[in-house]
Amino acid sequence: MNAPDLFLLPVPEEEFGRLEECLLAMVSQEDPFIDEVASHLVKAGGKRLRPALSIAAASLSGRVASEETLLGGVCVELIHLASLYHDDVMDEATRRRNVVSVNGRWGNLVAIVAGDYLLARSAEIAASLGIEVAQLVAATMARLCQGQLSEVKSAYRVDRSEEAYLATIADKTAALMATACRIGGITAGLERPQIETLTHFGECLGVVFQIRDDVLDIVASEHELGKPPGQDLAEGIYTLPVQRALADRKVGPRLRELLGGPLGREEIEIARELVADSDGITFAADAARRYAALAAEAAASLGDGEVPQALGELGISLLEDLERSTRALAS
Ligand code: FPP
Ligand code: MG
Repeated sequence: MNAPDLFLLPVPEEEFGRLEECLLAMVSQEDPFIDEVASHLVKAGGKRLRPALSIAAASLSGRVASEETLLGGVCVELIHLASLYHDDVMDEATRRRNVVSVNGRWGNLVAIVAGDYLLARSAEIAASLGIEVAQLVAATMARLCQGQLSEVKSAYRVDRSEEAYLATIADKTAALMATACRIGGITAGLERPQIETLTHFGECLGVVFQIRDDVLDIVASEHELGKPPGQDLAEGIYTLPVQRALADRKVGPRLRELLGGPLGREEIEIARELVADSDGITFAADAARRYAALAAEAAASLGDGEVPQALGELGISLLEDLERSTRALAS
């Protein structure tokens, strides 16, 4: 979803400019074809939330973002982009960020290897930032893969539990946000307790972010999402609002009849409506609210300056956005 105003972190424009330059430079160093494929999603936009988290975390030191912090931000953004290249292959998605996906334009083979290429570039940067960052980045990549594998394993399972869902989204999404914050803290030389708090903050924020993404897949329009809604249902990924709707006495039985296998476009629309008619959306929003409160608590314990305040408000603004989309659906 293209909503940069949602993520107003106190990152000076000049630092964002340096970040963009560095990001583009990392994906534009080979022949014209490799550069075009590797920079496709960078050029399609994106909120740069993860590098912004690294820069904001580092700014708790009171200094301007160092070269290491910017490189750390680029490193996490490259992992994010690589995971999207691969995710779109797995989802057979043809659109992302309102443009054609890499696999849609160049095919699966190119998308997979280009994703690997972005990961390799990311690893190169991580190694240059020292052993702690290199280990952290490798462990984070492993968590993303674990999360994605557990999601694939649960595909079409109507009995997927809430615990399994939360563990999966922590790995596939929250891990990288936690790492973005942690790298910011490490590269800025913050005290260990602050680094731990920032990591916990990023992990909680990541859960809010993914629950919002999963709710939007049910309630948002194609225009808002930049891709067709209902993709998770189509893939057999039954997220928190769907799990709750399956347990609902009113819509559950009908939904259970529909789910459990691949769906056509019309069936996806019926399933979306059934979920929207249940309390699944409010249930998921409540869960997101609990994690946003944990994130805000962690942010508050970082002090009372502009940065902790902005970090604390991030989860809340994600929630507000979720609630706006839900209201738009009801009206
Ligand atoms: C998007 O989720 C995908 C992820 C958050 C993680 C994807 C991870 C992999 C493909 C494993 C490979 C890992 C690496 C490091 C390359 P989504 O499908 O819920 O979101 P979407 O709505 O944006 O597609
Ligand atoms: Mg996907």
